Amino acid sequence: MPIAGYDRQRFRRYALLALLCLAWPAQADLAEGKARAKMCAACHGIDGLSKVADAPNLAGNGELYLSRQLQAFRSGERKHPQMSVIAAGLSEQDIAAVAAWYSAIKVSVELPE
Ligand code: HEC
Repeated sequence: MPIAGYDRQRFRRYALLALLCLAWPAQADLAEGKARAKMCAACHGIDGLSKVADAPNLAGNGELYLSRQLQAFRSGERKHPQMSVIAAGLSEQDIAAVAAWYSAIKVSVELPE
């Protein structure tokens, strides 16, 4: 049946297009997050692993947790001499992007013997 074959092909094309539309924003967000995380890298690393003694690792933390902490630093609800200044300059979009980046980093752990 040529009609059914044609419909199936058209369905596949639309399904692929729909998948691309769903995947595209997530990819764009991550690239944006990685670019913005450059301003965090001196302390937290681009890989989310702390580079200075008093900064925590961010890699693999929950996206919601990370963005809530950044919002708390920005609003003054949470205070720290360095983070409060840094967070004050972040937009909602910056926060979403860096939280998406650091939460997407996969971490593995090794328990001590
Ligand atoms: C100059 C060093 C420095 C830079 C740059 C910096 N941070 Fe931090 N960050 C810290 C320190 C130190 C802390 C620990 C704060 C505390 O003790 O309350 C921290 C804490 C945090 C926390 C809380 C983590 C937790 O486990 O509660 C988040 C989230 C965070 N930083 C995100 C960022 C992001 C995103 C950027 C870039 C936009 C950034 N930081 C840039 C030093 C820095």
